[in-house]
Amino acid sequence: MTNINDHKTKKYNNPFTATLTGIRDLFRKLPPAGTLKPENRLDGKTVLVDGSSSGLGFAVALDVARRGARLVMACRSGIPGKGELIKKLSGNPRVTMLPVDFSDLESIEKLARQIRDEAGPIDIYISNAGIVPKKSRKTPQGLEEMFMVNYFSKFVFINLMIEYGCFACKPEPSRIVLVSSESHRNPDKFDWDGFGIYRDYSIGKSIELYGYYKLLLTTFSVELSRRINADEAVRGSVFALCPGPVNSNIAREAPLIFQPLLKLVFSIFFRSPARAAIPVVYLAASPDQKGKPYDYFFLMSRKEIDEKASNPGNGKKLWDLSQALLEKLRQKP
Ligand SMILES: NC(=O)c1ccc[n+]([C@@H]2O[C@H](COP(=O)([O-])OP(=O)(O)OC[C@H]3O[C@@H](n4cnc5c(N)ncnc54)[C@H](OP(=O)(O)O)[C@@H]3O)[C@@H](O)[C@H]2O)c1
Repeated sequence: MTNINDHKTKKYNNPFTATLTGIRDLFRKLPPAGTLKPENRLDGKTVLVDGSSSGLGFAVALDVARRGARLVMACRSGIPGKGELIKKLSGNPRVTMLPVDFSDLESIEKLARQIRDEAGPIDIYISNAGIVPKKSRKTPQGLEEMFMVNYFSKFVFINLMIEYGCFACKPEPSRIVLVSSESHRNPDKFDWDGFGIYRDYSIGKSIELYGYYKLLLTTFSVELSRRINADEAVRGSVFALCPGPVNSNIAREAPLIFQPLLKLVFSIFFRSPARAAIPVVYLAASPDQKGKPYDYFFLMSRKEIDEKASNPGNGKKLWDLSQALLEKLRQKP
């Protein structure tokens, strides 16, 4: 496998530098692109939020419910408790929970069918689920779990949603908000030869690969926008963002010896999930973002994505490889 970080000392290569970079990023002053206002309501909209059992996703789901949306929570755990909690905290009874394991192709396909048949059409989809595993693990289809959950499941699920007509698209283009990370800038290059191939790794490599899969996700986000908005008419808005460092459960698999220190640093320096949810909900709900084909935010500021991600050749290559991998998996008995 090509080492995607051969040459430089990287900012997100290990938990220590990743945490320091996250803290430093919080103090970088960039002009805000707008403001999320209480009047940015979501009454009449159906909003799907995945990975909403915990951390950022839970906070986003709660904010969305408080803004009056019909909320669909796609979760691996916390059913029905987390949905009941959101109903109680928001006073909004229009909350449904659907089970999904994004590491399993069959579960993703089942979720897409449930949305087509019962829970859709979806006006706004917030794709948030993500992991930092302590080591490589195989999915039911033999892929590497972080590759599947943090990137490939999103390619599969969003394309199924489009194929099944799950997006409302009226009266305004549906919005897809992908939770990515500034760590997508870290890798030097794509590892096209290793695409989708399972390889063992341990915690030392997890953070580096996390940035690489966020690069795939960010590249996918802009390629998706290119494809659905190919002839200038905006059919769907695709937004990606880095919410900044969030005091969530993302480091749950960090070595036990570091857990107390990480918990302390996270609680002092990182944003609360409710605060980190603001740019996510802004992209989902603000009229400022209506009809835009694409945007990338870091916190509340608009930014250019890394040029590797915005390069159309890379976008096409990623799409073709992803499509070929999906077809191969579907052919397996
Ligand atoms: N925390 C940060 O500093 C930070 C910074 C930049 C970006 N992000 C991104 O923010 C997003 C949310 O993460 P978080 O920080 O809120 O972490 P978190 O508290 O660990 O939440 C992650 C969510 O993803 C879900 N999930 C994980 N694997 C799944 C699977 N196989 N199928 C379905 N759901 C699955 C989890 O469900 P369970 O509860 O069932 O495990 C949980 O709801 C991620 O995409 C992450 O990469 C986080």
